[in-house]
Amino acid sequence: MGSMKTLDFRSDTVTRPSPAMRRAMAAAEVGDDVYKEDPTVNKLEALAAEMLGFESAVYMPSGTMTNQVALLVHTQRGQEVILTQGAHIYEYEPGSMATLSGAVPRFVPAPYGVPEPQEIRRAIHASPFQSPTGLIALENTHNTAGGTVVPLTVQQEVIEIGREAGLPVHLDGARIFNAALVLGVEARRVAAGFDTVSLCLSKGLGAPVGSLLLLPAELEPLARRYRKMLGGGMRQAGILAAAGLIALQEGPRALARDHAMARELAEGLMRLGMQIDMRSVQTNMVFAKVADAPSYAARLKELGVLINALGPERVRFVTHRDLPDEAVSSALELVEKALAQRSR
Ligand SMILES: Cc1ncc(COP(=O)(O)O)c(C=O)c1O
Repeated sequence: MGSMKTLDFRSDTVTRPSPAMRRAMAAAEVGDDVYKEDPTVNKLEALAAEMLGFESAVYMPSGTMTNQVALLVHTQRGQEVILTQGAHIYEYEPGSMATLSGAVPRFVPAPYGVPEPQEIRRAIHASPFQSPTGLIALENTHNTAGGTVVPLTVQQEVIEIGREAGLPVHLDGARIFNAALVLGVEARRVAAGFDTVSLCLSKGLGAPVGSLLLLPAELEPLARRYRKMLGGGMRQAGILAAAGLIALQEGPRALARDHAMARELAEGLMRLGMQIDMRSVQTNMVFAKVADAPSYAARLKELGVLINALGPERVRFVTHRDLPDEAVSSALELVEKALAQRSR
């Protein structure tokens, strides 16, 4: 690779804290957050709760922890959680459900991440001979479906179904601001009606670490207890929350660039003959079908383009704020080169 600058399209989690974040981190006022005495964490939690329209928010190290604490708060061992096919909560939170809450997944089909609400209704178990349903969870945007957006009408229908059945409904909103941008509404509209929402600061928003679980005040003490149980009581976490505050305040408005870059990249890759379902290119992700994903990713890596192979025939490009303006045109040139090398 020599001195060539690597273009990292593996994930929006690879972003590094900006100079402003570094300054805020260095200057952060801190205290012991396990005693709720870290003023910067308290400020971040209050801001998140206010922005998302919730009574409370709890800061945690990762989106996996906010999702799994939600499961712990809502479910009991042996209960089912209705999830959309490919949900991060199950597919990429390695054995967490089984190990922690002991809940079991029941998947409903979700083309482009969008379930048919009636399928969710039918998936609810009422019979005493089956595992009782404990929770319904949606994901918006839906990562494995392509970073796709779930319409508000579908969310509302699912929330209604949950309410009628007396079941809580959780949103894995790791990228809720990406969804809000496409839906043309504030993030609080996307979060409205859910019992709990998980959102990540360390993806497109650019913070180095951290996620928030939004919840009603009555569930907060239990969520804090589970956070502590899992080792997520981080003491002077204000050092990290200081960057999180900037991410929450300034991150959302930078996402339009990521979405535009993803679209441009997808169109360019299609022109080069790659198989892409453009219907799934809605936010900052581009999934393409290739013959041998691991070797394709390895070839691009040699040329200085990092991507993830997700499955034997699927690669994923993700755009984010740390990619330079010319990243898409450079990447397209390098992909073309990789194709030419192969056909030689
Ligand atoms: C949809 C979704 N939920 C949750 C997470 C978990 O976040 P973390 O990596 O911080 O545990 C991710 C991370 O990629 C995600 O894409």
